Amino acid sequence: MLTAAPPTTRTSSPTTTTTTTMSARRRTMSMGSSCAFVRATKSRGTRGSAGGRRSAPSTVRVVSEGTGRFIVGGNWKCNGTRASVKELVQTLNKNVPQIEKNCDVFCCPTFLHLPYVKENLDSRFSVCAQNSWVEADLVDPEHHYDSTTGAFTGEISAEMLEDLEVPFVLLGHSERRTLLGETDEIVGKKVAHARYHGLSVVVCIGESLEERENGTTFDVIFKQLKAVAKEIDDREHSSWGSSVVIAYEPIWAIGTGKVATPEQVQEVHSKIRNWLAENVSEDVAKATRIQYGGSVNASNCADLAKLSDIDGFLVGGASLNGDDFAAICNASSVHYKAVGR
Ligand code: PGA
Repeated sequence: MLTAAPPTTRTSSPTTTTTTTMSARRRTMSMGSSCAFVRATKSRGTRGSAGGRRSAPSTVRVVSEGTGRFIVGGNWKCNGTRASVKELVQTLNKNVPQIEKNCDVFCCPTFLHLPYVKENLDSRFSVCAQNSWVEADLVDPEHHYDSTTGAFTGEISAEMLEDLEVPFVLLGHSERRTLLGETDEIVGKKVAHARYHGLSVVVCIGESLEERENGTTFDVIFKQLKAVAKEIDDREHSSWGSSVVIAYEPIWAIGTGKVATPEQVQEVHSKIRNWLAENVSEDVAKATRIQYGGSVNASNCADLAKLSDIDGFLVGGASLNGDDFAAICNASSVHYKAVGR
C-alpha cells in the first residue's frame, strides 16, 4: 500500500468546494499488493509538449517491453442485478486465495452497484468506475477542467469518485465512443480531469474492423493516444506509468468471440510503446501497462499473456464469471515466465 502524494498548492481556484475538500484530505489508496498510486500533481506548472508539441527526439531507442506489474480488469458493463452482483462478489472473494500475488486486479461495476461492490468486494480487487464526466465545451488552457459538478443531469463527476475513494476510472471505452459519440478530444479532457482528481485511469483505444481493413489502425490509435498525451502535464507524466493504463481493444474483437491473434496484439502494443517513447518519454513507455481487451477468456488468455508487450487484460463478458475471471488474472504467471521476470 502506498500513500498518495499530496497535491501541490494551486495558484488559482476555479472551484472552491472541491478544492477545500481535496486539500483537507490526504488519503491512502491501495490496489492489490503493491501497485503504486501516485496522485496527479495539481500544479499549474510549465506545460510540456507531449502529443505532438515537441518534435520527437532524433535518437529514440526502441523500447521492447514494459516493466509494470501485470494488470487485469473486469468490465462488467451495463450488467447486474442486486442478486447477481452479490453472487459475483461472493465468487470473486472465494477466489482470492487462488489469485496470484503478482497481478493487480480491478473490477468495474455499474455506478449503481459501485458502493455495494466497494463495501463487499475483497480489497484484493480495486474498484473502478466505468466513466466520469467532463464539460465538452469547457476551454481550460491548463487542462484541468476543474468545474464539472453542477447542472449535468445523469452524469457522475471525477470529484464524486474521488469523494467516494474510488481509485480507478475507465475512460474512452469504444462503446462510449461509438454509441455515445465521445470524441478523442473529450476522452483526453476526461483523462486530464480524472488525473487532476487523483484517479488512476484506464484509457481504451482501438480501431474498427473497417479501419483495420483499410490499413489505418495505427493512424487511429496514435490519434487517440495523442489526444490523451497532450492533456497530461509534463509533471504528471512521471506518474503516468503507474496511473495511466492503456487498454488496446480492437472494436471488432469486443463481445464478438473473435479474439485478435497474439501476433496482432503484440504488434499493436509494441507500436503503442514506441509511440509513448517517442512522444512522451522512454520511462513512461516502459512503465505504462498496456492491456489487451476483446473476447479474452479463460481458454485464450495464456497464449496472449506470453507476449512481451501484453501487460494484462481488460475483460468484458468473461469477467461476469468469477471463477473464469480469477483464472484470467493468473495468466500473469505465464507472462512473467515468458518474459523472464
Ligand atoms: P469482451 O469485452 O471481453 O466481452 O469482448 C471487453 C471490453 O469491452 O472491455
